[in-house]
Amino acid sequence: MPPPPESTAYDLDTNELASQYEATSGKAQLKTGIVLLSELSINPGACVLDIGCGTGLLAAHIASLAAPHGRVVGIDPLTKRIDLARKKISSDLKDTLVFENGVAQDLSRFGNESFDVAVMNSVMPWLTPGEQLEALREVFRILKPGGRLGVAGGSGDHLNPFFEIRKRILSKDPYQTYYPDNTIGAPKRITSDALTSLSKEAGFSSSKIRFDSPALVVQTREALLQMVTSSAFGNYMGKLPSEMQLAAQDEMMHEFEKYRRGKHFEIALTTLIAVAYK
Ligand SMILES: C[S@@+](CC[C@H](N)C(=O)[O-])C[C@H]1O[C@@H](n2cnc3c(N)ncnc32)[C@H](O)[C@@H]1O
Repeated sequence: MPPPPESTAYDLDTNELASQYEATSGKAQLKTGIVLLSELSINPGACVLDIGCGTGLLAAHIASLAAPHGRVVGIDPLTKRIDLARKKISSDLKDTLVFENGVAQDLSRFGNESFDVAVMNSVMPWLTPGEQLEALREVFRILKPGGRLGVAGGSGDHLNPFFEIRKRILSKDPYQTYYPDNTIGAPKRITSDALTSLSKEAGFSSSKIRFDSPALVVQTREALLQMVTSSAFGNYMGKLPSEMQLAAQDEMMHEFEKYRRGKHFEIALTTLIAVAYK
């Protein structure tokens, strides 16, 4: 039996990674998040919890839908990203949008049935299966009857080229000593079956799931590397000692070459877009 997946590390983020995420996530996570919002009918006046809000780009967009009388709370365990998120609270959103440190598994500061909608965009893969169930139970508790949970992100039913490359390289010498089970720091992407059964177990009455296949287009291999490393807030290189990281990153960049299409790079990713109903 493979060992259980390790919990994600939250102490590896840096100001540089947080800023890189802010600069690059518009091409990937924000796009997927906006597709997810189109499934959630967020109207003015809605109360929305954005769980794992990162640097707050999607939460600010949600706040523009829920304003002026709605309320949007973004929570995230990474302080550096919450600091960047707070900069998005423009004067017209100051009564609508708030950001706090927090994790999906513990929403105890929020009362029962206090939100219309909860959003988890590119967050589920960072939770172990046990944490995913705890999170879904908490979300079920804080949603009003008829409330919706939107979940989106990399699909566990499909291969993700970035994490296949990572697995191939980190499983070789000299890196593999630091990467013994292929799971350290890797996102635990959820499958549609697992999400359906976990949401049922958490109490949701029904759910719908579909897949989307956006192409990720960037101009340089360096930008690709920045996207994956900043999305993983320091977890992408596993437990590799810092002196080995540059060599491993060079090998990854070499593999990215196969996605070159003329002057740009293009990678097809499959995302899962799901809504669960209370
Ligand atoms: C790829 S980013 C997505 C950020 C944002 N949702 C977006 O759409 O840009 C993943 C985020 O999930 C957060 N995260 C990881 N584990 C979490 C947990 N247990 N509870 C809440 N958020 C978590 C990370 O801190 C990180 O900001």
